[in-house]
Amino acid sequence: MIKKMSLNLYAATILLSALIINTQTVVAQSTFATSLKEVFKNDFLIGTAINTQQIEEKDTASDRLIKQQFNAVTPENIMKAEIIQPGWDKYNFDLADKLVAYAKKNNLKVNAHNLIWHSQLPSFMRHMQDADSVRKYFVNHINTVAAHYDGKVYSWDVVNEALNEDGTLRKSIFLQKLGDDYVVEAFRLAQKASPHSKLYYNDYNIEQPQKRAGAIALIKKIKAAGVRIDGVGIQGHWRYDKVPMKDIEESIKEFSTLGIEVMFTELDLSVLPNPWDNATADVSATAAGNAKMNPYANGLPDSVAQMQAKAYADLFQLFLKYKKSVSRVTFWGVNDGQSWLNGWPIRGRTNYPLLFDRNFQPKPAFYRVIATAKSVSK
Ligand code: XIL
Repeated sequence: MIKKMSLNLYAATILLSALIINTQTVVAQSTFATSLKEVFKNDFLIGTAINTQQIEEKDTASDRLIKQQFNAVTPENIMKAEIIQPGWDKYNFDLADKLVAYAKKNNLKVNAHNLIWHSQLPSFMRHMQDADSVRKYFVNHINTVAAHYDGKVYSWDVVNEALNEDGTLRKSIFLQKLGDDYVVEAFRLAQKASPHSKLYYNDYNIEQPQKRAGAIALIKKIKAAGVRIDGVGIQGHWRYDKVPMKDIEESIKEFSTLGIEVMFTELDLSVLPNPWDNATADVSATAAGNAKMNPYANGLPDSVAQMQAKAYADLFQLFLKYKKSVSRVTFWGVNDGQSWLNGWPIRGRTNYPLLFDRNFQPKPAFYRVIATAKSVSK
């Protein structure tokens, strides 16, 4: 009798789980038929960062999602100086050309990332002492790369991360060797070499008041010099429970008053503890890890997934409120497993910052973002 009951119970459990799995799949498939680019088509572009595998179409699961969900792409690494100009006289356009072809085929706008940045520089110029050589590199790099892609890419991040947290200019090799005007000069050169692509300034934490003031001063300086700048990118590497909503709103207002586009260019909402008290996205800042710093190695609790979903929904609600000013929102990666946040600032962690999980399935955050789009009258 007992045996029979437990057998029955066993069968019922199997039936129930089959039902649950089934319902989940059905829900996933039907809601999944909606896409981000579709629901925001009258509002702003929806982009993702893409890596080499994806550009070379070797990752079919990503490929499907990219085509289905996005209408803009930013190369995560392959247009950075160390890859596109590996030697003084050596440019390597192979991968970036592939990216442009891939984007054209799939109706994706390319935001080229980036021309001038202190990080991921070619090794030959990292410790360059001679100011004339740095200037030559700077001029040649911008002229050659920007001209090669003029009109082939929709836009350029001309200068990336030039500012310190207090709004002053970061003491990069460019500031040290070329002086205060190097940002204006970079835009001037880019404007000449690439008259048919939009030109942007991109940075993290520029929603924060002090750094934002520095960015505004920089943008005004570029404009006062009669040089074109079309937009500003706020990277958007935040923690799901610390999204600075007020600062973001204030930033959209203040930046758009300058008459330029505002974009969220590298959006991801980390769920992991930060080794520092302050928020940073400085790629050179790394820390040692331990188990406490990697709490979700075996899976993300639903409660956290739901809170992250709410944070994403609030953000998109704000973006929609300012859809006249916000021209693009780009996620920094396609799925959680591909995010740089699994390796930074601590190596080997398991993070869950994006809208799609490691199996390319939509997370609660995806559904909340879609629902937000649908609930706001357009
Ligand atoms: C990151 C990439 O995602 C990593 O793969 C790479 O190792 C380091 O750079 N700000 C930027 C991006 O502007 O280019 C950085 O991308 C993330 C922070």
